[in-house]
Amino acid sequence: MANNTGRPAVFVSRKVFPEVIARLSEHFDVEMNDTDSVLSPDQLAQRLQGKVGVLTTGSERVDAALLAANPQLRIVANIAVGFNNFDMAAINAAGVLATNTPDVLTETTADFGFALLMATARRVTESEHFLRAGQWNKWSLDMFAGAEVHGSTLGILGMGRIGQAIARRGAHGFGMKVIYHNRSKLAPELEAECKASYVDKATLLKTADHVMLVLPYSPEAHHTIGAAEIAQMKPTATLVNIARGGIVDDAALALALRNRVIAAAGLDVFEGEPKVHPDLLTVPNVVLTPHIASATMGTRMAMAMLAADNVIAFLTTGHAVTPLNAAAVAKA
Ligand code: GLV
Repeated sequence: MANNTGRPAVFVSRKVFPEVIARLSEHFDVEMNDTDSVLSPDQLAQRLQGKVGVLTTGSERVDAALLAANPQLRIVANIAVGFNNFDMAAINAAGVLATNTPDVLTETTADFGFALLMATARRVTESEHFLRAGQWNKWSLDMFAGAEVHGSTLGILGMGRIGQAIARRGAHGFGMKVIYHNRSKLAPELEAECKASYVDKATLLKTADHVMLVLPYSPEAHHTIGAAEIAQMKPTATLVNIARGGIVDDAALALALRNRVIAAAGLDVFEGEPKVHPDLLTVPNVVLTPHIASATMGTRMAMAMLAADNVIAFLTTGHAVTPLNAAAVAKA
């Protein structure tokens, strides 16, 4: 649908870099939410009137109601690799193309997974809080003694691109024994390259010194890690979640951390974020970060540019760069 300038109109639902708006503006009339506040579903539906494409983030839900209010919409381009904010059944039924941003964030996110693992195992933030509180008055042999990272066993739950990049860091950089569990086993040459061995979930939980969660969220993955799974882990183990809120039962985890069922956790994502379960804020043995695993300027720019390129490519050639549902759209 073209507006009165004769060019198609697109909407950018959150503040993005000016370079991204400039690129989109070469092709479209661009309107954006430059307040950067998260729009309510009604506000988003309203702002999308007359727009054929939209750039979203994980904070905006695209569902049947939004699509019904905007039948002119042709593409929804998420600035994220995860797309659990998309109701794919509704998007497919509406014949709308959905895209995400794979690959451009893989290495940066894997770096952060390792940063969180290191900070958690070696008690970096806990000891910093102690120092900042003026409590450091002497050196002691066991002060903030944490868990070994090099040479330990890393268990990765979810072995997509990011899981594999974490495995490479662990195996090749830190001499870790890497075990993984995934819906499907990797091809043997990829397993060899990542130096990773496939195990069942129970074996992973009970064997790993560090458990890293990198699986996509789906209703089936809800509370993949709850009290029962935490109880299977070693009491010295750490748990790191860079996947999605809801994969871990945060209330159960907070209780387990308080009771030292496991040693520590590192969390970048939370159930109901940006709210954080209040019990997590009061346990000392958890490192908490505000969903920043892909947050370097270069990677965030690459993600936003890829989303823009998806909109441009689809609306000008009919083929997006990283489509999620091209087959469903072709059939519609
Ligand atoms: C971030 O969480 C993403 O899915 O890209």
